[in-house]
Amino acid sequence: MGTCETQSLGVLLLLSWAITIQARSSLYITYKDPSQPVNIRVKELYKLMTLEEKIGQMTQIERTVATPQVLQDYFIGSILSGGGSAPAPNATAQAWIDMVTNFQKASLSTRLGIPMIYGIDAVHGNNNAYGATVFPHNIGLGATRDPYLVKRIGAATALETRATGIPYAFAPCIAVCRDPRWGRCYESYSEDHSVVQAMTDSVLGLQGDIPGDYPRNFPYVAGKNNVAACAKHYVGDGGTQKGINENNTIIDYEGLLSIHMPPFVDSIAKGVASVMVSYSSWNGKKMHANRHLIIGYLKEKLGFKGFVISDWQGIDRITYPPGENYTYSVQASINAGLDMVMVPYNYTGFFSAVKSLVNANVIPMKRIRDAVKRILRVKFIMGLFENPLPDPSLANQLGSQEHRDLAREAVRKSLVLLKNGKPGSQPLLPLQKNAPKILVAGTHADNLGFQCGGWTINWQGSSGQTTAGTTILQGIKSTVDPSTQVVFSENPDANFVRSQGFSYAIVVVGEAPYAETFGDNLNLTIPAPGPSIIQTVCGAVKCVVVLISGRPLVVEPYVPAMDALVAAWLPGSEGQGVADVLFGDFGFTGKLPRTWFKTVAQLPMNIGDTNYDPLFPFGFGLTT
Ligand code: GLC
Repeated sequence: MGTCETQSLGVLLLLSWAITIQARSSLYITYKDPSQPVNIRVKELYKLMTLEEKIGQMTQIERTVATPQVLQDYFIGSILSGGGSAPAPNATAQAWIDMVTNFQKASLSTRLGIPMIYGIDAVHGNNNAYGATVFPHNIGLGATRDPYLVKRIGAATALETRATGIPYAFAPCIAVCRDPRWGRCYESYSEDHSVVQAMTDSVLGLQGDIPGDYPRNFPYVAGKNNVAACAKHYVGDGGTQKGINENNTIIDYEGLLSIHMPPFVDSIAKGVASVMVSYSSWNGKKMHANRHLIIGYLKEKLGFKGFVISDWQGIDRITYPPGENYTYSVQASINAGLDMVMVPYNYTGFFSAVKSLVNANVIPMKRIRDAVKRILRVKFIMGLFENPLPDPSLANQLGSQEHRDLAREAVRKSLVLLKNGKPGSQPLLPLQKNAPKILVAGTHADNLGFQCGGWTINWQGSSGQTTAGTTILQGIKSTVDPSTQVVFSENPDANFVRSQGFSYAIVVVGEAPYAETFGDNLNLTIPAPGPSIIQTVCGAVKCVVVLISGRPLVVEPYVPAMDALVAAWLPGSEGQGVADVLFGDFGFTGKLPRTWFKTVAQLPMNIGDTNYDPLFPFGFGLTT
């Protein structure tokens, strides 16, 4: 080759190098440029990603296995706190913020600097965090029939979740619980899908209101005071046979679409950023492997444009025993349409399985592209690239008085009055504030952990002063006249009750906390010593029974002895709300979100069924 030719080649090479640099730098500018349209940013970033970086975005791991090195080596796209998983016992907001910040800085230090998204089960407030406002569980919110209240609670929950530096909540649960024997029935707003549909306004609270001209079915998160939400669990989790958790929902297609699907349609229309797949099966087919319902229906028919996330080890449970033939589970779930997998521990196994399945073209690249683009879309839309780090100025939102007042309002509106006065006698409620001497009895009267229920500080919840809040007894004491003597005895004997000259008694009993399968229960009786406390106290003095439970329980045998009966569900940290209504500062307005059966032999029994013979029907609730 002559000198001239060599020079020309040199110039050409130099020119092509310059163009490549320019192109790359413009690409880098493009995806990091917030003025660019989201779809352009997604497209340009995706082009730059290696297969490993793409698989990393699809991988969600638990915080206990997350280290900066792991985040960098595996390009991890998301981290979660499992139920109760906190940086330390009673961790402060700052401790949470520091933890998330350290993880995020590691993610931002990767080649493309894609921020990870940290998720947590903020299902009734930011309930993992000590000192957070704990709102009534969804069954109580269903009793309020107040979507605007639920939206306000969503907004408060978003602020308290951001107070700990976290931008993603695995909420709301929009299950339509059709059998109260299900351990998660308290996470469901109602047996009636139309009530659940109305309560999907929770998404608007968590994420923010959708702008008028916003594209339909696209994820929307307003900004750094909001969080990405997660409609769960898709689909039919609340319809499993006998309420057996993670089991089989046996119903025809029309029934699935008419009862369990509508809340997802509404959530998507309200811009929900993610949808979590249910552990359960539909007519024997695991939802985590159901391509027709995930790709065919959710993504194509409903046009959902956010990302689909698995449940915790949800793909492992496609096979039995769970984790058996894991490669098959990875193949079946990803090809069914799962975008992000809550692994949450075996990230090396997940990563290598996906990589080998893609390289073998068992998982087509277009499936990976769909998954990664959906995840990136949500991260761009919610501003995570612009604001990847926690905002410490929000730390003081955790447990704020404004939010506690909101929770107290929710407690008031959630209470359902089922009985008030025996035949031929005056109603007992509202209670007299200046009675000389009253008895407060029961295992749940002075137990914050019991009144909060599961998913509180730890996964299963627990007994005692587990966080900041007001017990029902404390609320009563601060409501009655100073001259009134309040005597508290958890489990008094009959002679004591008869001998003290009590004007009346308030008996607070119910279920101990539980979550998920641990709450599955076939007999639904009031746990001991509740029934005997009721019979002892109500047999000796006028009484109102306040039932703390995640669902209707067997009460028929005890109702005749009661002067009044109140369903308080799982009210959360603001027990004052119960006293507000018992003593008449506010009236009873709650309506049953579920049918109250006579016996479990009647179950499942829901409004609209033939042979509908409840003790108290769906929608029932006395007023004062
Ligand atoms: C749980 C629940 C799900 C929760 C997830 C993460 O098993 O099924 O509702 O969001 O795991 O804690």
